[in-house]
Amino acid sequence: MASSSQSWSFSFFFMASILAIISQQKVAGVFWPSPWQLAHATFYGDDTASATMGGACGYGNLFVNGYGTDTAALSSTLFNNGYACGTCYQIKCYQSKWCFTGVPFTTVTATNLCPPNWSQDSNAGGWCNPPRVHFDMAKPAFMKIAEWKAGIVPVMYRRITSYTTRETIIAWNVAPANWQVGLTYGTSLNFR
Ligand SMILES: *[C@@H]1O[C@H](CO)[C@@H](O)[C@H](O)[C@H]1NC(C)=O
Repeated sequence: MASSSQSWSFSFFFMASILAIISQQKVAGVFWPSPWQLAHATFYGDDTASATMGGACGYGNLFVNGYGTDTAALSSTLFNNGYACGTCYQIKCYQSKWCFTGVPFTTVTATNLCPPNWSQDSNAGGWCNPPRVHFDMAKPAFMKIAEWKAGIVPVMYRRITSYTTRETIIAWNVAPANWQVGLTYGTSLNFR
């Protein structure tokens, strides 16, 4: 009798542990930002971020489509073949004399790929060459965290949930069959 109740309580403990692990992972995947990690950031374009238009994610005109100037191009290590398109990151300038003090972080949405340039050294201009983790930010976004004269600054970043309306809308078969990364397409499907 004692042994059967012991094994019962063991199974119960075992099941409870499994459930705890599963629910923890679920919660971590959905709600919690990733830990802060080290990267670097540069900027591109001018104060109007006009150069952020028509990025590799196919978002077209970022003002018309609601992304504004808080956008960044990701090195291919982060870009992950386009799976990072639309993901959001908090970015804070880290241990540089060019960092603005009193600015905790700024938030950007990934809208473009920063392609590698192998004719430049990875530590002198080829900032987006793999395996570098790099954010090439629209200039107005960069100017929120650091003096633009810096050119490049170390940053800490973490991925957060992208939310604007806190609503998720899933639409199937929106992109035309011939769509590929870099192409902009129109659709009749829309947000209400
Ligand atoms: C790559 O780097 C070289 C050398 O600095 C430069 O001349 C060239 O314009 C760069 N290519 C691109 C696509 O930016």
